[in-house]
Amino acid sequence: MKLVRLIANLGYGSRREVALMFREGRITDAQGEVLYADDRVPHETVRVDGEALDPPAGLVIALHKPTGYTCSTRDPARMVYDLLPPRFRLRNPLLSTVGRLDRDTSGLLLLTDDGQLLHRIISPKSRVPKIYEARLAQDLRGDEAELFASGTLVLESETTPLAPASLNILGPRHARLTITEGRYHQVRRMFAATGNAVTQLQRVAVGALALDELALEPGQWCALDEVQVARVFEP
Ligand code: URA
Repeated sequence: MKLVRLIANLGYGSRREVALMFREGRITDAQGEVLYADDRVPHETVRVDGEALDPPAGLVIALHKPTGYTCSTRDPARMVYDLLPPRFRLRNPLLSTVGRLDRDTSGLLLLTDDGQLLHRIISPKSRVPKIYEARLAQDLRGDEAELFASGTLVLESETTPLAPASLNILGPRHARLTITEGRYHQVRRMFAATGNAVTQLQRVAVGALALDELALEPGQWCALDEVQVARVFEP
């Protein structure tokens, strides 16, 4: 791909703006040699104002989503994209969230521009476990684990039962729930179906990729390498 297109696709500007950057000599190789708009050189050798280019297409990001941020781009509220470099919103292909977390849910949120990967992670057929820790308004009744594991629970206003989910009780009002689907407000609605309410919800892992191991503070993000992405598909 010609450099001008590659750099425009990374959100540095329109093609016209990026063409101007070339003319201004702002795009160079690692040795500072000026590059030209129709050059085709390896991504890792390109510098913009002396800085390495943003990661190429195929980007996968892990974000520690804080509460108070929405995954929707239509919402006037704070968006998870506000926590990333502004250029990332202008990338082509688009960087999308892999599923969604509610505004009041914190934890591990993945974003990618790889449509196939996104589909593989969110498709219920892939059965990628999404693991949540929930704080509850009331003590657990004791029968929730059995109900969630049964594969018969039908959420309010739905007709198909949920796939079996597994519940680990961590305290009287504290539990870890592993689900393989991503229905709207699923975790909150599952507990609501037992007469309880979730007061705090955090996604702690997607597959075997755990928030803890990424050591991200709320609001921080990192690009994942192939080994980390593969962990998403490990049981
Ligand atoms: N289930 C919920 O209720 N909320 C989330 O954000 C994710 C799963």
